[in-house]
Amino acid sequence: MSDYDHDALQRAAKDHLWLHFSRHGAYADHDVPTIVRGDGVHIEDSRGRRYIDGLAGLFVVQAGHGREELAEAAAKQAKELAFFPLWTFAHPAAAELAERIADLAPGDLDRVFFTSGGGEAVETAWKAAKQYFKLQGKPLKTKVISRQVAYHGTTHGALSITGIPALKQVFEPLVPTTVHVPNTNIYRAPDLTTPDGRPLSEDPEAFGRWAADRIEEAILAEGPDTVAAVFLEPVQNAGGCFPPPPGYFQRVREICDRHDVLLVSDEVICAFGRLGEMFGATRYGYQPDMITCAKGLTSGYSPLGAMIASNKVMAPFLEGTTSFTHGYTFGGHPVSAAVAMANLDIFEREKLNEHVRETEGAFRGTLEKLLDLPIVGDVRGDGYFYGIELVKDSATKESFDDAESERLLRGFLSGALWEAGLYCRADDRGDPVIQLSPPLVADQPVFDEIEQILRSVLTEAQSRL
Ligand SMILES: Cc1ncc(COP(=O)(O)O)c(C=O)c1O
Repeated sequence: MSDYDHDALQRAAKDHLWLHFSRHGAYADHDVPTIVRGDGVHIEDSRGRRYIDGLAGLFVVQAGHGREELAEAAAKQAKELAFFPLWTFAHPAAAELAERIADLAPGDLDRVFFTSGGGEAVETAWKAAKQYFKLQGKPLKTKVISRQVAYHGTTHGALSITGIPALKQVFEPLVPTTVHVPNTNIYRAPDLTTPDGRPLSEDPEAFGRWAADRIEEAILAEGPDTVAAVFLEPVQNAGGCFPPPPGYFQRVREICDRHDVLLVSDEVICAFGRLGEMFGATRYGYQPDMITCAKGLTSGYSPLGAMIASNKVMAPFLEGTTSFTHGYTFGGHPVSAAVAMANLDIFEREKLNEHVRETEGAFRGTLEKLLDLPIVGDVRGDGYFYGIELVKDSATKESFDDAESERLLRGFLSGALWEAGLYCRADDRGDPVIQLSPPLVADQPVFDEIEQILRSVLTEAQSRL
């Protein structure tokens, strides 16, 4: 049993804690799951039960739970200098971390603006793009293009970039200058044919060209002199882990260059080993103008985000009396920066990226065993980042309507997976998917256990259809 008082925690949580993205009504007659500790790839709740953390918290805990050296790095920094802002001052932890990130980031992404998290990094990139173009004498270049179903955060700017109408409607009006284009879900590719007569869904390269060209179409429709940036994740999370088709990012890069539009790689999930590289852009071989990142930078032992800009983007901010009139009290917090340094030490010492690259094939292969279940339509992703799309019938790809999806995901799957010992995500922001993103220290026995739990719960779900 856990040494926490389960009932007292339940009262405190239910009476006072406003949970994020949660239906509080659902807790009227259910416990709020309350996690009290973690160890490696496992977490433990206040009832003393252990679970596989199949989502690394929220795509965060790359190095695994319970790392004393990260806790010690935080304590050491707090004793020396607990806080100082980056508003016209520097401190060693932020300066050293900025230098290290600049070394790791692709190409000339050499300038690091720290934030407290991912949404703030997205806000920062958009504001930097707008001011960059004003400084270039192109004040109309303010708009952002991003993809349908993509999630980029919840602050007004980041939520405007987000392409999930259901998350936006109650907060309208948002920032009006965003446009959304199709994402790279080849499993649900539009019913079109390539010039040689093949379905688009069977030709990943043609599909990639088609999807990239939707971005150019949007830039031209809006007017290139009004578009500041394109925001894309290396592997799009919401909708269930869509990897880029071959050639997609290379073509997007050309399109951005042609129209003087900045390419922002939103790597809040995809950086720091999630795809077996420090940055997703490295994995897919493209050069963004900015990267936004957060989550895995500290493995979650302290909050931190960053916007990493190229020297080209920063250049006009270095002139005369110009300043980027933007900042966050806790951006680049000394404790978080020190934790990030220690976290990157673990990456190097334990070769976490190499581990992901060596074992991702086995992870994929283990999850693909589930394709023999008629309810499993597609298994997709890269690295340690996978989505399993659920369908009524894998032969027809027929999906669930909203009511069925509600019954399946919220009414059954989320609870059943949890009771079976697996924390992961059952997501219906696009078509229904289960998402997996375990700590990067996971290996074959963990993959097997995940597969077995999914198999038994999905078999039960199928029998309830
Ligand atoms: C791609 C992407 N961008 C931005 C965000 C927002 O990050 P945060 O929740 O740290 O504000 C997220 C969060 O999951 C994300 O996945």
